[in-house]
Amino acid sequence: MRRGLVIGNWKMSVNRQSAIELVDAIIANLAVTSAEVVVCPPYLYIPEVSQHIKNTDLVIGAQNVAAHETGAYTGEISARMLKEFNCKYAIVGHSECRAYSDYTNISVAKRFCLAVAEGIIPILSTTETLAERESGKTFDVIAEQLNAVIDMAGIESFKNAVLSYEPLWAIGTGKTATGEQAQEVHGFIRQLIADKNPDIAHNIQILYGGSVKPDNVQDLLKMPDIDGVLVGGASLSADSFLKIYSSFQK
Ligand code: PGA
Repeated sequence: MRRGLVIGNWKMSVNRQSAIELVDAIIANLAVTSAEVVVCPPYLYIPEVSQHIKNTDLVIGAQNVAAHETGAYTGEISARMLKEFNCKYAIVGHSECRAYSDYTNISVAKRFCLAVAEGIIPILSTTETLAERESGKTFDVIAEQLNAVIDMAGIESFKNAVLSYEPLWAIGTGKTATGEQAQEVHGFIRQLIADKNPDIAHNIQILYGGSVKPDNVQDLLKMPDIDGVLVGGASLSADSFLKIYSSFQK
């Protein structure tokens, strides 16, 4: 059975003090659920947060990872550096990076490969714009994003990966995909993987992201191919994040 997974993606919405207050409040209330709970602070706060969560069940991840192993890449943070601070996960190709920072499917695939090489589990994001959805291109766009990574990394490397579907039109907009809309895409993603390797498809966790809140999470989690959620805005309050992850009984 696939374990539930809840990722809190703090984006650029905390400062040093609020990051520590938030992590302390989460730890203090960390209920026992069937899901694994992960927070992804901004890079700068990873060392301090990593220290705070030592000996707790909370897990740390990064919001991104460089597309290069090492060298003259000003401002970048490599997978090896993240590993030094115990990051178990790294989000790769988040919809916001794809949309606002011109990431290509190839640069996302490189990030994926470098994370895997360092033993960091990539959370490979797939996305679509509203225009793509409305013109019936959803499956083509998602398949292109996934196939670029499969071609470079090989399907076997998906044994140690997580996938996510985060429609850009649902992120930070308050518009969530309905359970049915999300399930349709999640089912498509799992089938695409199954066509290459049924075992991996059966085991891989596929997360939904986009305006997940305590009052819509149940609708999403009842779907057979939604194994967890990637939470932005609602992960910035310990109370709503707690409500979201304590709803995991899958
Ligand atoms: P949001 O972000 O919950 O604020 O919409 C979700 C995401 O980044 O996937």
